[in-house]
Amino acid sequence: MPLLRQAVAGRGCVGAGILARPFERRHGTLHCEGVPLEGIAEVVGTPAYLYSTAALRERYRALDAALAGVPHRIHYSLKANSSRGLLQVLRAEGCRADVVSGGELLRALRAGFPAEHVIYGGVGKRRDEIRAALEAGILLLNVESAAELAIVEEEARALGRRARIALRVNPEVHVANAHEFIATGSRGHKFGIPWGDVPDVASRALTSPHLELAGLDMHVGSQLTSLAPYQDGVRRLTELARALMARGAPLQFFDAGGGLPARYDAEEAPDLALFAGIVVPAVRALGLELIVEPGRFVVAESGALLTRVLYRKPSGGTDFVICDAGMSELLRPSHYDAYHRIEAVRPRGDTSTVDVVGPICETGDFLARDRQMDDAQPGDLLAVHTAGAYGYVMALTYNSRPRAPEVLVDGTRWAVITRRESLDDLVRLEAETVEWVEG
Ligand SMILES: Cc1ncc(COP(=O)(O)O)c(C=O)c1O
Repeated sequence: MPLLRQAVAGRGCVGAGILARPFERRHGTLHCEGVPLEGIAEVVGTPAYLYSTAALRERYRALDAALAGVPHRIHYSLKANSSRGLLQVLRAEGCRADVVSGGELLRALRAGFPAEHVIYGGVGKRRDEIRAALEAGILLLNVESAAELAIVEEEARALGRRARIALRVNPEVHVANAHEFIATGSRGHKFGIPWGDVPDVASRALTSPHLELAGLDMHVGSQLTSLAPYQDGVRRLTELARALMARGAPLQFFDAGGGLPARYDAEEAPDLALFAGIVVPAVRALGLELIVEPGRFVVAESGALLTRVLYRKPSGGTDFVICDAGMSELLRPSHYDAYHRIEAVRPRGDTSTVDVVGPICETGDFLARDRQMDDAQPGDLLAVHTAGAYGYVMALTYNSRPRAPEVLVDGTRWAVITRRESLDDLVRLEAETVEWVEG
């Protein structure tokens, strides 16, 4: 039994095995929980993103249970999916928020997260974003450089406040399994304070009357299918925490970042017990509170992108299945060469080897290449799985195609949580006439 399942079963929080996979075929047609995808497509059209609330809750609860051995806070990383309806499901579970911009801070607050349940990281925070976060009274600002620390200090002084900060350090560990674009904790990456600079930055934080050094933070990468980078990073961060505490640093939090993987094909679920075995004893021994910032693990598998086949076109030896969704709805295949499982909502019973592509005027616009999968003909519906994370949030309006709606499913009911963008929405921000100003 995969460990995710055991962890969940142990807490008794999941009904008779609805999940780990929230999309199941019943009576020959794919359902999300108790709702047939065909019915949703009929009402909202395609493309559309669908999310299972049960899957969201299951992942959150499984992680929460796995970390039970130490005081901990799960700050869901909004960058994976920041739709209000979905955030509200997680908030109701007791989840907190991790944001990377003023926009995500606004989204977290509007979804009802209290400011003191929000942490804010990010390598390029603007001064106005830092000020907004301090004014709101968030739990922690994760500072990523000496230069940023100086700005946080200035803004805190101007507001007459003491800014509670964590230092996001780059533990400079080897991150072998992540795609190079989503590895973040190795020497030379733009993220975090370079390991060798940390003592100086920490000294400055410890001596400033406007700063309270409350935590240490790392995020070594995303889709970490090996736990080795966590192990190495936690070891380094632990040494650093001990050294700083010996110097009187009032540390409260040890933030191990995000990065737990999702299943894009037939992989095993991540081993939460092993993950907890790395972080929990280390943080407990320090007497600190653990923070984690998962994004993908919580939401990816809850979601699928629903798309309709428009055309089938053989060309130059390739059989193209041309759909109404492509790189603009799910950028990961073209951006990271990522694999997403695709299946027919109502399979015809045979398979074919095809390229699944979208309508965008780019050869790089594809969802799958050279894939043997359910045969799909014009009019058929396809489900592109594991699209709950880094799907809608990375959606483009390139080629002036409006963004697709988002739908939340809960048992036998469903709701549109983000409506389909209209053509008017696409041009709403444009000036009707060009109004020049001298300058
Ligand atoms: C600082 C930070 N925290 C958390 C995350 C969430 O990562 P994941 O979705 O892999 O859990 C990211 C993603 O890049 C990140 O940069």
